[in-house]
Amino acid sequence: MADSALTTACTRTRARAARASNADAAQAYRGVIPSDRWHEPYMSADELAKEIDSGVIFWMAEDNGQLLGVMGIQDKEDVALVRHAYTATTLQRKGIGTKLLRRVEALADKPILIGTWADASWAIEFYRRNGFTVVSDGDRNRLLRAYWSVPARQVETSVVLADRRWMKAQG
Ligand SMILES: CC(C)(COP(=O)(O)OP(=O)(O)OC[C@H]1O[C@@H](n2cnc3c(N)ncnc32)[C@H](O)[C@@H]1OP(=O)(O)O)[C@@H](O)C(=O)NCCC(=O)NCCS
Repeated sequence: MADSALTTACTRTRARAARASNADAAQAYRGVIPSDRWHEPYMSADELAKEIDSGVIFWMAEDNGQLLGVMGIQDKEDVALVRHAYTATTLQRKGIGTKLLRRVEALADKPILIGTWADASWAIEFYRRNGFTVVSDGDRNRLLRAYWSVPARQVETSVVLADRRWMKAQG
């Protein structure tokens, strides 16, 4: 995958492609997301459009028109959030996620946070490998309240990972 194959995805056409990838890779969450939080499709077209409208910039990895993966980043006051990271199921563990993460990280000139499911061990491992650290439960609760809108039940079943810059700023 060439770097030039990565493009911003702000148009509805791009959103359709992102949705296709999302529906595929989100299957990984089945059985991991607490059953009372699971719904299908994991993200509807409307939800995706709302995410774009609320400022999530999606980047995609493509190869000859084939969508390989997608990742979003959202500016939130003094931090940036990595959102909706997905690599097509059959193409995982080939470096696509890392390449997308590097790209979206380069868009942020502030500390970066990521929220994911506590049981999504593969995702936590992926972010750890890329320099992120799982924050304490206290910080998680505070950060989820400050930067995300998630129900209380979801707070308990989530983790927040922070990049080196955020960790350093905590002293
Ligand atoms: C998390 C995700 C985006 C990573 O993308 P990727 O293209 O597979 O990532 P890379 O190939 O760059 O990195 C691979 C590393 O991530 C971790 N990883 C990725 N998939 C894994 C899996 N199924 N099991 C364990 N570790 C995994 C490993 O550390 C792996 O390195 P290794 O293959 O040398 O062991 C991808 O697994 C995915 O889309 N998962 C489903 C959706 C999801 O969980 N999204 C995260 C939302 S926050």
